Amino acid sequence: MSFLKHIKPSIRTLDAYSVKSKPLSPELIKLNQNENPFDIPEELKSGLLEELRRIPWNRYPDVFPSQLIESLAVDLQLPMESIIAANGSNELMYTIMMAVVSKGTKVLIPVPTFFLYEKIVEVMEGEVVRVPARPDLTFDVDAIIATARRERPALIVLNSPNSPTGQMLSAGEVQRIIEATDSLILVDEAYIEFADMPSMLPLLASCDRLIILRTFSKAYSLAGLRIGYLMAQPGLCAELLKPKIPFTVNNYSSAAAIMLMKKKELIFERIRYVKEQKSALYHALSDMDGIKTFSSQTNFLIFRTERNAAVLFESLLSENVLVRDVSSYPQLERTLRVNAGTEAESSAFLKALKKHL
Ligand SMILES: Cc1ncc(COP(=O)(O)O)c(C=O)c1O
Repeated sequence: MSFLKHIKPSIRTLDAYSVKSKPLSPELIKLNQNENPFDIPEELKSGLLEELRRIPWNRYPDVFPSQLIESLAVDLQLPMESIIAANGSNELMYTIMMAVVSKGTKVLIPVPTFFLYEKIVEVMEGEVVRVPARPDLTFDVDAIIATARRERPALIVLNSPNSPTGQMLSAGEVQRIIEATDSLILVDEAYIEFADMPSMLPLLASCDRLIILRTFSKAYSLAGLRIGYLMAQPGLCAELLKPKIPFTVNNYSSAAAIMLMKKKELIFERIRYVKEQKSALYHALSDMDGIKTFSSQTNFLIFRTERNAAVLFESLLSENVLVRDVSSYPQLERTLRVNAGTEAESSAFLKALKKHL
């Protein structure tokens, strides 16, 4: 007990992050973390390893990775001062919350959504204001606006396209939320490359309260190397940089992200493939009796069955098919999430699912 009394009460009630999983193996059909099914091609990896040999390992990287930010600035047609890069976008969620949330600060979060936003608010002893989705799981924009006007949150977190529902806000809807409030608006676009609807990036020029978050972990196949970035107007970026942990982007990951930005054809081809697989998976699930699936602007789908989700999850895992049990999220009872993989992985998943329904 002696050491526990020094741990913040807000931390003691939390659980550490864990993903129900199985060790990676060639047999495992891994469809649980919305990753890209394709690794970086071998010749690109070799080129990067050569580069790693040339970089001095005894020297610190830039405090903030200037070459990566320069490449992003050219790619996104933004000033470098509008971009902050980090060791994954999860790090930037902490950075933003560190700059904004203290004890009692209100943060509005439409739910169900990515669990980490709530968790960080709790770590910072802020107050989460949840706004439920409509019954069809679309964002309830009117409720978001009404709640924001009543509660006056410092920050509104919009994960769009949203995990785990796959739903997305239109630019008009985000504009309405911006105009109806004076909160900071964080739009997490981790899955934007898979969406048929446009990014909120064009709104950045006219809104100094907007932050857009992106990642290399999904469309860019780089989850293992950890690169994420945010975009905001320079004045806001300058404030967000203050609490940021320095040196979190290592030279190797930075070089990999820069290299991938020059391989747009490869990335686009993979996005096209993943979107086709997602669409085929959606149709296959829609045709199955006893399953309700939801359209998705991401590389994954959720589906509700008549079975207990935890039991179905374990049954699929017994066939080496790893999906995500999202049934503990609000409004997602009896629901599992599966990401689009290769055609062979989709077939294996559908076969196992049919067997265990
Ligand atoms: C909503 C959301 N944001 C961001 C991320 C990516 O985080 P990172 O860039 O740290 O890999 C994920 C990945 O699961 C996600 O689902």
